[in-house]
Amino acid sequence: MGRPNASAGHAALLAAGYRPESIRASPNALPGLQERNRTKGFRMFYEPHLGHGLPHDPFKAIIAPRPIGWISSLDQQGRPNLAPYSFFNAVHSSPPMLAFTSESMKHSAANAIATGEFVFNLCTRPLFDAMNISSDALGEGISEFEAAGLATAPCRVVKAPRVAAAPAALECKVTYSMQLQDMNGAPLKGWIIIGQVVGVHIDEAYITNGRFDTAKAQPLARCGYRHYAAVTEMFEALRPTDGGGYAPGQKDK
Ligand SMILES: Cc1cc2nc3c(=O)[nH]c(=O)nc-3n(C[C@H](O)[C@H](O)[C@H](O)COP(=O)(O)O)c2cc1C
Repeated sequence: MGRPNASAGHAALLAAGYRPESIRASPNALPGLQERNRTKGFRMFYEPHLGHGLPHDPFKAIIAPRPIGWISSLDQQGRPNLAPYSFFNAVHSSPPMLAFTSESMKHSAANAIATGEFVFNLCTRPLFDAMNISSDALGEGISEFEAAGLATAPCRVVKAPRVAAAPAALECKVTYSMQLQDMNGAPLKGWIIIGQVVGVHIDEAYITNGRFDTAKAQPLARCGYRHYAAVTEMFEALRPTDGGGYAPGQKDK
């Protein structure tokens, strides 16, 4: 049985009273998409290589919020660079490691690979404007620290500077860098950089009862489109494996 054509699928959805953004904003939505909407109780499904049929790709809005790796580095001439990366996360705890993905060979990735070092700076709500300015595509060797009016502070183990105003910063040595491939092994433009944390800076104003006070720091996270979120509230819950409870100061599992 063939698929209904776009207008038949569209008409069936409209007749059923369904008014998703995809149909209103994108009359050219894929016929296959509409058929699947109809047959799966209006649950949208798409295969990315066929297109999503929405005005904007929802992928980054689904994988949200994403922490922002505000990455500082030095180029081979010793010039500082700073840029935000939300394809970023912690990837290992002992030793602590983190990773960011550059969707092409941008300055931060090139510097990290060339020097073997980079720094994660915690980007917080009060630092939003500076972070945003630092995402500008400035020429090689032009400092985003200066463009954003940010003071640098020295690191201890690596040569790259950190953002002085960030409540925390993690000095990293590159352990792994790899050009990404798709599922057929075709090379992509993106690179993933993994770093091992070799130095941790914390502003003591954000230590409360011996813990880093995440809600006080208000870390900024990237959502989809041009949306952001800030962590201002948290809740605590024990795990089934915590047994008798979670003792203060207990090593996190
Ligand atoms: C909040 C935010 C998150 C971003 N995340 C990424 C990312 O994960 N990967 C990427 O390649 N670019 C990302 N960008 C765009 C880069 O920050 C931008 O291309 C920047 O100019 C790169 O600077 P650089 O060449 O100095 O490293 C992001 C921008 C913003 C504002």
